Amino acid sequence: MLNRAFTILAAAGLAVGQSVSNTATATSDIAAAAATARTESPTSHVKGKAFDRIVQIYLETTAFDSAVNNTDCQALFKKGILLTKEYGVGAPSQPNYISPASGDTFGLNSDSFVVVDKNVSTIVDLLEDKGISWGDYNEGLPYTGFDGFEYSNPVEGNYMRKHNLLIRFDSVTNDPDRLAKIKNLTLFYEDLENERLPQWSFITPNLYNNGHDTNISVSCNWTRSFVEPLLANKYINDNTLFYITWQANGQNATQRNHVAGIQVGSAIPEHLVGTTDDGYFNHYSELSSVEANWDLHTLGRWDVGANVWNLVGRKTGDGIRQWDEKIALGPFESYFWNQSYGGVFSSAPNTTHTYVAPNIHLEHNGRTVLPAIQRKWRNSKCRGLRTYYEDIIELPDEFHPPCGFEVPIGLMPHDPIMTPITVFPAANYSDTTGLAYPSICSSASNLYPTHPPKPDYGNGKDH
Ligand SMILES: *[C@@H]1O[C@H](CO)[C@@H](O)[C@H](O)[C@H]1NC(C)=O
Ligand SMILES: *[C@@H]1O[C@H](CO)[C@@H](O)[C@H](O)[C@H]1NC(C)=O
Ligand SMILES: *[C@@H]1O[C@H](CO)[C@@H](O)[C@H](O)[C@H]1NC(C)=O
Ligand SMILES: *[C@@H]1O[C@H](CO)[C@@H](O)[C@H](O)[C@H]1NC(C)=O
Ligand SMILES: *[C@@H]1O[C@H](CO)[C@@H](O)[C@H](O)[C@H]1NC(C)=O
Ligand SMILES: *[C@@H]1O[C@H](CO)[C@@H](O)[C@H](O)[C@H]1NC(C)=O
Ligand SMILES: *[C@@H]1O[C@H](CO)[C@@H](O)[C@H](O)[C@H]1NC(C)=O
Ligand SMILES: *[C@@H]1O[C@H](CO)[C@@H](O)[C@H](O)[C@H]1NC(C)=O
Ligand SMILES: *[C@@H]1O[C@H](CO)[C@@H](O)[C@H](O)[C@H]1NC(C)=O
Repeated sequence: MLNRAFTILAAAGLAVGQSVSNTATATSDIAAAAATARTESPTSHVKGKAFDRIVQIYLETTAFDSAVNNTDCQALFKKGILLTKEYGVGAPSQPNYISPASGDTFGLNSDSFVVVDKNVSTIVDLLEDKGISWGDYNEGLPYTGFDGFEYSNPVEGNYMRKHNLLIRFDSVTNDPDRLAKIKNLTLFYEDLENERLPQWSFITPNLYNNGHDTNISVSCNWTRSFVEPLLANKYINDNTLFYITWQANGQNATQRNHVAGIQVGSAIPEHLVGTTDDGYFNHYSELSSVEANWDLHTLGRWDVGANVWNLVGRKTGDGIRQWDEKIALGPFESYFWNQSYGGVFSSAPNTTHTYVAPNIHLEHNGRTVLPAIQRKWRNSKCRGLRTYYEDIIELPDEFHPPCGFEVPIGLMPHDPIMTPITVFPAANYSDTTGLAYPSICSSASNLYPTHPPKPDYGNGKDH
C-alpha cells in the first residue's frame, strides 16, 4: 500500500527498546544474529482429505479484474481452478496478513509494528495439534526468526514485516522451535532440494516480486516462474495444492475488496482443471479449508464459519453456504471489506481496545474449538471480555461492524509506527479525529439481532 522510498525507511533503522536482539538491521548485527539463528525443517506425512501438502503464495494489492486479465496468471489458472468471489477482509495490507493466521483483524487499520498477545492462537497451534509440519517462508528475510520492521536484502530483495504471516504473534515468536520455522526463500529451495519441506507452508515474495513496489505484470510473471517448475517436481507436487491469492484490491481503495484466488497442483482432479469455484471466500477460507482438509480443530473465530473451498468441501461435506441477507442485514454487494472495523489494534479512539474472546462453543461440521483454546478462554466472561464470532459466512466490515467496534476511520496513521505496539495508543489520535473515548459497550449483545440458522453443511459430498 505505502509506496515510501525503501531506502529512507531502511536508513531510519530500528533502534527500538525491545529486549530481543533480532530486530537490528546493521550489517554487523545481521551477520552476528544470522550466525546463531536456529533453523528447523521438520517433516510429516499426515494424509489430508483433498491434499497432503499446501503451499500458499500471497501477492500484493491487485483487483480481481487485473489479475485475471494477466496472461501469466491466466496460464496458471487454466491449469487449475479460479476462485471468482475471493475477498480481502480489511485495509491496508497488514489486516490481510494477520487474518489468515489467527481468524480476525483485531481492528488493525495500519501497517504499524504490532505484536499480538500470546493468548491469541494461530493456525500453528491447530497444525501442531495434529502433527502437521509447517513453515513460513519470506523472501528477503536476512535470517531465520528476524523480527525487524524491514530489511533491504542484497541477495533476496526487500522484505517488510507487515507481509510476514506469523512474525506478529507472541505465541509463535516466544517459542524458539516455532521461531526457527520463520525462514527465507533460500531455505525454501534448500528444503526442496533436501526433500524436507513442511506439509503446510506460506510464501511471501519480496516487495518487488509480490507486486508491492511493482505491478501485476511482475507479480504474475514471478509467480508463474516460481510455480511452474514446482508443478513439474514430483517431490513437492505429490497430492499438493498451490494456492495463490492477493491480500487486497488496493488499486482502488474505495471499491469492494475483490481479489483473485488461483488453485493449481496435483491435488486438483482432472475434471476440475480449467473450472471456477464461485463460492464466497475470504482469507478465513484459507483457515477453514485447511482445517477441513486435515480435520483440525478451529480457532473459534471467523475461521469457523468461512466457506470451505469446493476442492476440499466436496471431500469433507462442507458445502458452499450462500449469503443470507437476513443474517447480514444487507445484500452481498453492500459489503466492501475495504476498511477494518474497530479493535485492539485500531487507531480509532472510540473503539474497544481489548481482545475479543474466541467463541469456544462453536462447532462446524464436527470441528470443535481447539481444547487448549477452550481452556485458556473459558472464564473470559468473568474478565468482561466479549465474543462476536458466529458460525456464519457473513463477515462484518466497516459498514456492518460488530456492536461497539464501529469506527469512522480507514488507514491511520498513514505512516506506520515502527516501534512495537501491543495495544494501540489510540489516545494519541483523538486530536486528529476529534472523538472522545467511549464508555465500553456493557451489554453482552452479539453481532446480529437474529440468531443464525442451524448449520447447513450443504450436499457437496461426492463420495
Ligand atoms: C485487460 O487487458 C486488455 C488488453 O490486454 C486491456 O485493454 C484492458 O484494459 C485490461 N483490463 C483490465 C481490467 O486490466
Ligand atoms: C493472557 O493470559 C494471561 C495469563 O497467562 C492473563 O493474565 C491475561 O489476562 C490474558 N490476556 C487476555 C487478553 O486474555
Ligand atoms: C537466509 O537465512 C539463513 C539462515 O538464517 C541465513 O544464513 C542466510 O544468510 C539467509 N539468506 C539471505 C540471502 O539472506
Ligand atoms: C511493472 O513494473 C516493472 C518493474 O518496475 C516495469 O518494468 C514495468 O514497466 C511495469 N509495467 C507496467 C504496466 O506498469
Ligand atoms: C519474467 O520472469 C522471467 C523468469 O524469472 C524473467 O526472466 C523475466 O525478466 C520476467 N519478466 C518480467 C517482465 O518481469
Ligand atoms: C474507484 O472506484 C470508484 C467506485 O467504483 C470510481 O467511481 C472511481 O472512478 C474509481 N477511481 C479510479 C481512480 O479508478
Ligand atoms: C471503502 O470504500 C468506501 C465506499 O467506497 C469508502 O467510503 C471508504 O473511504 C473506503 N475506505 C478506504 C479505507 O479507502
Ligand atoms: C465512533 O465514532 C463514529 C463516528 O462518530 C460513530 O459512528 C461510532 O458509532 C463510534 N463508535 C463507538 C463504538 O462509539
Ligand atoms: C502517545 O502520547 C504519549 C503522551 O504524549 C507519548 O508518550 C507516546 O510516545 C505517544 N505514543 C505514540 C505511539 O506516539
